[in-house]
Amino acid sequence: MCGIVGYIGDKQAYPILINGLKRLEYRGYDSAGISILNKTTLKVFKKKGKVSDLDDYASKQDTKGTIGIGHTRWATHGEPNDINAHPHISMNGHFILIHNGIIENYSRLKEKLTDRGYKFVSETDTEVLANLIEYIYLKGKVTAEIAVRLALSKVVGAYGLAIICKGEPDKLIAARKGSPLVIGVGEGEYYIASDATPIVEHTKSVIYLNDDDVAILSRDGLNLKTIKNDSLTPKIQKVDLDIGEIEKNGFDHFMMKEIFEQPRSIFDTFRGRVSLEKMEIHLGGLYSVLPKLVEAKRIIIIGCGTSWHAGLVGEYLIEELARIPVEVEYASEFRYRNPIIYPDDIIIAISQSGETADTLAAIKLAKQAGATVLGICNVVGSSIPRETHAGVYTHAGPEIGVASTKAFTAQVTVLAMMAIALGHERKVLDKKDYEELIQELYAIPDKIEKILKSNNSFLKVSKKYKDATNFLYLGRGSLFPVALEGALKLKEISYIHAEGYPAAEMKHGPIALIDEKMPVVVIATKDKSYEKIVSNIQEVKARKGIVIAIVSEGDTIIKKLADHVLEIPETRDELAALLAVIPLQILSYHIAVLRNCNVDQPRNLAKSVTVE
Ligand code: M6R
Repeated sequence: MCGIVGYIGDKQAYPILINGLKRLEYRGYDSAGISILNKTTLKVFKKKGKVSDLDDYASKQDTKGTIGIGHTRWATHGEPNDINAHPHISMNGHFILIHNGIIENYSRLKEKLTDRGYKFVSETDTEVLANLIEYIYLKGKVTAEIAVRLALSKVVGAYGLAIICKGEPDKLIAARKGSPLVIGVGEGEYYIASDATPIVEHTKSVIYLNDDDVAILSRDGLNLKTIKNDSLTPKIQKVDLDIGEIEKNGFDHFMMKEIFEQPRSIFDTFRGRVSLEKMEIHLGGLYSVLPKLVEAKRIIIIGCGTSWHAGLVGEYLIEELARIPVEVEYASEFRYRNPIIYPDDIIIAISQSGETADTLAAIKLAKQAGATVLGICNVVGSSIPRETHAGVYTHAGPEIGVASTKAFTAQVTVLAMMAIALGHERKVLDKKDYEELIQELYAIPDKIEKILKSNNSFLKVSKKYKDATNFLYLGRGSLFPVALEGALKLKEISYIHAEGYPAAEMKHGPIALIDEKMPVVVIATKDKSYEKIVSNIQEVKARKGIVIAIVSEGDTIIKKLADHVLEIPETRDELAALLAVIPLQILSYHIAVLRNCNVDQPRNLAKSVTVE
């Protein structure tokens, strides 16, 4: 949530900052702002709305200067407007800062500062921090760096910060606790950003800040320390991110580009890990914990949103193929309900961004209880892989569309690899099943390629139901989480109310909703529940509901019953989720576009949810 970008060097800061904000807009998009320091003149441009609105406004003005900060906001404190937009300037104009995160004790700090004569113009917690830093700076007659460190020691909450002090015009200060920050290292120049996407077009050398780190950047070098003033040695890493990966490459939206990338992203996820020649699965990231995993009495999977849905597919896969009991929990519930965690439990945290606040907090809780915590993450260098004992990256590449698509299939691919490998190690799977599963996993990218060729038929169906006000999604077994995922995709980008249900549960309540206006998307591939799901379709039709069925290629029975059938290739039941989700992603995409919704940046949402 919220995108941060900063620059100090010899180049003009404005083009770097505005382009950086465009790259980061997926993190928050209700308002944006930029501040530039030119010698001792500080300029601030802020606008409610998109980064393009800010650019229209600021680019007509004098934006000269070689040091600056920029922010794109997802509102927490105060509605999105020009005043609440970042950057925030301190009352006497000494400090200007941008912030991602939440200052939890801001009202107490605000009261104290008000008692000392401070006045506030915005409703934000960030302005309180700007004034606190300034108060310490003026009262204590200390340097900007000391004022920042002392102020941060009084703050409860999470922050990623970029700060300019007008009195020290050749410095940029960055600090992190709980909200990600990356420093890009150039020749006599530094970049700051919430993630590497705005940096890679300038430099591939980056430093990921850890919690409680403060970086003082000048054109002559970087000084890294902790809030408590202990010196740190910066660890410069090469970021493996290509500029093409963060552009639309001819697609109208990132979401569609990412849907179409799935054959490649799934392949990249198992490439080097699954070998057809050796008929083996090798997950290097789990090597150190493999004996514990094989002996595990229980696995608990945690995640939020789409990642939680992937976890539900994982439950089915691990229980079915490896016979280890699995529980799946929303990270947000797990962390607050005093869960029973045993030291020999294995916790698997799933997250695309690796920054989701609830998932991070749940990981910390599980670690305190002595459990082994593994991560399945997409963003390399993000917080979750660093907080977990071991894990597997998904290698799906950057996912920019707020609606998660390729991250989901990559997460399920990792869980499938884990389940097959564990099933083999635990001797639950015989040789034939083990090898067949490996071969079938290898065949998934081509099968998805085939589904993508039916894009036009998906568009036709979407046109028919774009004005529906409700949708029901039904599935059984591992396809029930796919029904949930289909419903989530539709509601988050098209704002149509949608619910996912296990097909057999329909008759326990949701069936009351069915009438001739209700589209019911039924995932009805040829698996062991096929007969049952055919009965469910008949139940919907008996009540005049509209059935859109996702069926296996060549199905003739459901074709006679359903209003529309969307075919997908056959695969083993255990891997069907990887195929069945594709038509649902595409249906949601088309419906949202036909309703003129902003599919990449749906209202009220942001890509990575770094607040509770
Ligand atoms: O980055 P994470 O996977 O931890 O994010 C979890 C959810 O916020 C995320 O999956 C969200 O539900 C997506 N917008 C769904 O498309």
